[in-house]
Amino acid sequence: MSTTALSDLEAQLDTLLHEGQQAITSADSLERLEELRVGYFGKKGQLSKILGGMGRLDAADRPRIGAIANQVKDALQGDLDAKRSALESAAIQAQLESETLDVTMPAVFRPQGRIHPLNGMIDRVLDIFVGLGYTVATGPEMESDYYNFEALNTPPDHPARDMQDTFYLPDGNLLRTHTSSVQIRYMENHKPPIRIVAPGRVYRRDTVDATHAAVFHQVELLAIDEGLTFNDLKGTLKEFLRQIFGEDLEIRFRASYFPFTEPSAEVDVKWKGKWLEVLGCGMVDPNVLKQVGYDPEKYTGFAAGFGVERFAMVLHQIDDIRRVYASDLRFLRQF
Ligand code: DAH
Repeated sequence: MSTTALSDLEAQLDTLLHEGQQAITSADSLERLEELRVGYFGKKGQLSKILGGMGRLDAADRPRIGAIANQVKDALQGDLDAKRSALESAAIQAQLESETLDVTMPAVFRPQGRIHPLNGMIDRVLDIFVGLGYTVATGPEMESDYYNFEALNTPPDHPARDMQDTFYLPDGNLLRTHTSSVQIRYMENHKPPIRIVAPGRVYRRDTVDATHAAVFHQVELLAIDEGLTFNDLKGTLKEFLRQIFGEDLEIRFRASYFPFTEPSAEVDVKWKGKWLEVLGCGMVDPNVLKQVGYDPEKYTGFAAGFGVERFAMVLHQIDDIRRVYASDLRFLRQF
């Protein structure tokens, strides 16, 4: 009886050892390993159960089973420990690998914005004039008749008003047709000497086509000081146009008419073999100076204004002004 019980327990311990070793070998996580340990060595574990059967043994056989049980326990414990450290270092290894930076991998494409050709043009123009000592000034796009026309020596019945088809607002104000209005606003609040460059949006009731837009941009120039002459205007514009179009640029001044300048001129540049009109300018009319309380006997000045789109179109050889506003990336990516 006791011999059967003895070999029965020995067989159970043997089975526990072999099954346990296999299970430990194939355990794939630390959690699984802990489950196995509790299953073998816990209070209700398999080892306790087997040893619970020792009561059926002859007292003389007990030490033998006890010794085998200890061997099984030590063997399984050793396997558990070995497996634990193997799993732990595998986890560390996996973490290291997942965190490695492979500098040979292709970079992630990050779309990058760029400066719109119009803003690029405005920035260039402002940079040049700031370099010449000018200050950037701005004014409102919704204007009164006074700032857009009247103070610029253009009274209501003046024929020059027809040159600029105006958007009138129901309240009698208007959308400024040019940035010349900024001249008046600035002079009202500053004393000479003045040197300003004023970029901004302007509006005209033009039929939209390849060279006309209802909304476009101008840059205005104004310099007021004692003793300024037409020569200063010419020198300033030549310097500016050369910085934009290139060193050996041919420039010509043609007599013209604007209500707020006297004398007035239009400036053409020779670009790719053709004369192109690029800006209007002149000596500030004494009436304009009087209007803002400047003494025309003491101060003289010059002014100029030009369209930014036109400059950009000439420089970048853009054939249709509508492309500039279309927000088509295929177009914009060229700049
Ligand atoms: N304001 C004019 C226009 O929009 C351009 C212009 C001409 C501005 C002569 C000036 C100037 O300051 O002196 O057509």
